[in-house]
Amino acid sequence: MAEVIERAVAAAPPVLTGTDHVELWVGNARQAAHYYGSTFGFDVIAYAGPETGLRDRASYVLEQGRVRLVLTAPLHPEGELAAHVHRHGDGVRTIALRVEDATAAFEGALARGARAVEEPRTVEDSHGALRYAGIATFGDTVHRFVERDEYSGPHWPGYRAERRPGGGVGLRHIDHTVGNVELGAMDSWVDFYREVFGFHVFQEFDEQDIATRYSALRSKVTRDQRTRITFPINEPAEGLRASQIQEYLDYYGGAGVQHIALHTDDIVESVFAMRERGVEFLTAPSAYYEEIATRVREHGVSEDLDRLRELSVLVDFEDGGYLLQIFTRPVADRPTLFFEVIQRKGAKGFGKGNFKALFEAIEREQAARGNL
Ligand code: FE2
Repeated sequence: MAEVIERAVAAAPPVLTGTDHVELWVGNARQAAHYYGSTFGFDVIAYAGPETGLRDRASYVLEQGRVRLVLTAPLHPEGELAAHVHRHGDGVRTIALRVEDATAAFEGALARGARAVEEPRTVEDSHGALRYAGIATFGDTVHRFVERDEYSGPHWPGYRAERRPGGGVGLRHIDHTVGNVELGAMDSWVDFYREVFGFHVFQEFDEQDIATRYSALRSKVTRDQRTRITFPINEPAEGLRASQIQEYLDYYGGAGVQHIALHTDDIVESVFAMRERGVEFLTAPSAYYEEIATRVREHGVSEDLDRLRELSVLVDFEDGGYLLQIFTRPVADRPTLFFEVIQRKGAKGFGKGNFKALFEAIEREQAARGNL
């Protein structure tokens, strides 16, 4: 650790300018692209595969607002892509971060203790050149630094533009991306984001905040002060029965991305549209809405409480405002990755007041799977 800190003084942390994209490695990218298009309303904007000269994979680029997802599937059983899908099922491989200088970001990260995954590389086509490099984070997850100021193509050299509109449901940008790590590993991954990226710890939660009768977790929220890129890190805590985080780790085969939270400016419209399109959400019991009715009035919540109840949208209150949020069921058969839809109205937190209702909903599902 002393060595890490010594090297840390020598190099500046990577200067991030935003999230570039999130890449999921999946078993069947064509069907996954159809799913995220028809249910979440994403447009398919680019494609790469055998038709564009890629021999080992097919890759679809989806976009809505400033959210860009890349879905990639292997065409052969060999190689790290197929191995990743075999081990983890569908899941997030890469959280790509936009930088002005990929080499400097990569070298700065390495000097501050990160492990290299992809050496800096320039790739080009008729739309210009793009430079990238990658470092390891928790599990088999990767952070890629992407420098694309000189690139004007639809996504990445080798991809062709596609026009398959998904219609949109009002999703605007990624609010946060959460990692689940093994019991006892949270603090070292929080240190990783502090030391390598210069992030600070924005909030933390422990078993007292996040405990139901059965499951418990600990969580620390790390954040880049400049861009507000936010990575909460969870670890399981000892509960009476299996923590939902442990269930994730068991089915994912280790640490990985638990959920991606997408911001909307109108959660009632977005969630209504997503439900109509077939997205499955966790539900809150009627008692939850009776419990919050007084605070909904006190905080001047402008959304109709009955409407929130119909849609199972949760509300959490802070001094400065409130937030509205809802969680999907896992998006594949393994109980691993899911999505959150969130609307912030002056609140900066993560729905602490909703943890109990949320976890009880998750536990009902865990029980149905025989994992509680
Ligand atoms: Fe979240």
